[in-house]
Amino acid sequence: MRSRAATRPWEFAWRRTSRGIEPTPDGRPRGVEHLTEAAKRVLDANWREGQRADGVPYAFTCPATPRYRHQWYWDSCFHAIVWRHFEPARARAELRTLLRAGRLDGFIPHTAFWDWPARWRRAPFYGTHTMFGCSATATIQTPLLALAWELVAELSPDDPGFATEALPALRLHYDWLDRERDPDRDGLLTIILPDESGLDDSPKYDGVFGWMRHYRPGHVWLVERHRRLGYDAGKIAERYEEHVEDVLVNVFYALALRALSRLDDEHGGVYAQRAARTEATLLERCLDQRTGLFLDLAGRGERRVAVSTWSALAPLALTGLPVGVRRRLVEEQLLDPRRYRAEVGIPSVSQDDPSFEPGFSLWRCWRGPSWVNIAWLLVPAMRELGYQEEADRIVGSLARAATRYGYREYYNPRTGRGLAARGFGISTLLVDLLRQAQTEPSVAPPMMHL
Ligand code: GLC
Repeated sequence: MRSRAATRPWEFAWRRTSRGIEPTPDGRPRGVEHLTEAAKRVLDANWREGQRADGVPYAFTCPATPRYRHQWYWDSCFHAIVWRHFEPARARAELRTLLRAGRLDGFIPHTAFWDWPARWRRAPFYGTHTMFGCSATATIQTPLLALAWELVAELSPDDPGFATEALPALRLHYDWLDRERDPDRDGLLTIILPDESGLDDSPKYDGVFGWMRHYRPGHVWLVERHRRLGYDAGKIAERYEEHVEDVLVNVFYALALRALSRLDDEHGGVYAQRAARTEATLLERCLDQRTGLFLDLAGRGERRVAVSTWSALAPLALTGLPVGVRRRLVEEQLLDPRRYRAEVGIPSVSQDDPSFEPGFSLWRCWRGPSWVNIAWLLVPAMRELGYQEEADRIVGSLARAATRYGYREYYNPRTGRGLAARGFGISTLLVDLLRQAQTEPSVAPPMMHL
């Protein structure tokens, strides 16, 4: 049974949150405070709580209505990271719900459907055990739960037990990933569907998944093939070429393992060792010395995928990697206007890559536009390395775009235009970025090219 409160008030709320953030009466865009309030309104409107028919309670933020109605793993982690600034109790409830969506063996799904079963049109594309009737997918998404747990615990003085209450479950989760998703035991997790990274249609997967890539008709066959093998990554990696040791997934995996090691006094050492192994393998196997980019390893031959997407820059966030390697990512990529230095945010694909498309596409995402979680991962690392001015510029540009267009799924990196879903939860990460900025970025005057 869904509680009444969970359904009614939000049915039409997306209309309210879909507009840009209203300018002041004299036409000037509003400031940071207003962006913060608007973020809270988005998360509020997308909040769902109740009880599934089998009695299991849930409380989470759906990414955006009406398009994204379920609970997505990485979206939920990002939402909780923002909720902790407003209502830490909701942040904690969201992460606890995510754990509850998992299995006793430590598996946690990419998507939990709760009271909103997958619609027939999309059901064939979900990595579920049967096409209909499942409560969640049998696939994973970029596993940052322990990192989100630590960040929420830091702002939970009212619930000091939160930091450690889930350690057994978190250990099980990361043990499951290590056991089931690292078939060649090199410290890198393997993904078996493109959307397991969260970067569904990234051009880096075009050559790997070919006619079976995300949202192509062949994708339905790929899902069916996985079903027949019970989503067993070991069997899939042994028999087929369509699987990836993904840089972004493994960067977040290493960050989460580090967080778990800090949370867990007793067993922390094991997870710190695993994190170090993942970082070392990224450095050894994925770093392309010629370009300084970190490239995915695809298929049984572990061939490097030479497409420049933001995932190739993600190791910048790993503070344990050599400073020279990290600085090179900033100097040669993020500061280069031909590559990742854009008018607005950080583009998801290098502007000099032939696949780069800055605008909206109905079926494809992550092919060029700027998403706020890209900046959320990379900007703090830029600050840490001393690139304050550039970090402020990036955050300020996103703040102006959000002021003008509201919290949209992504933004055109050249014009700042807000695109795709409206009232999109992940984009409220801007609030977290604004709180880290030492000076309040100016949200006026409006961008030149809007
Ligand atoms: C899209 C995004 C993915 C996100 C999901 C729900 O599929 O590509 O990253 O998790 O929407 O918001």
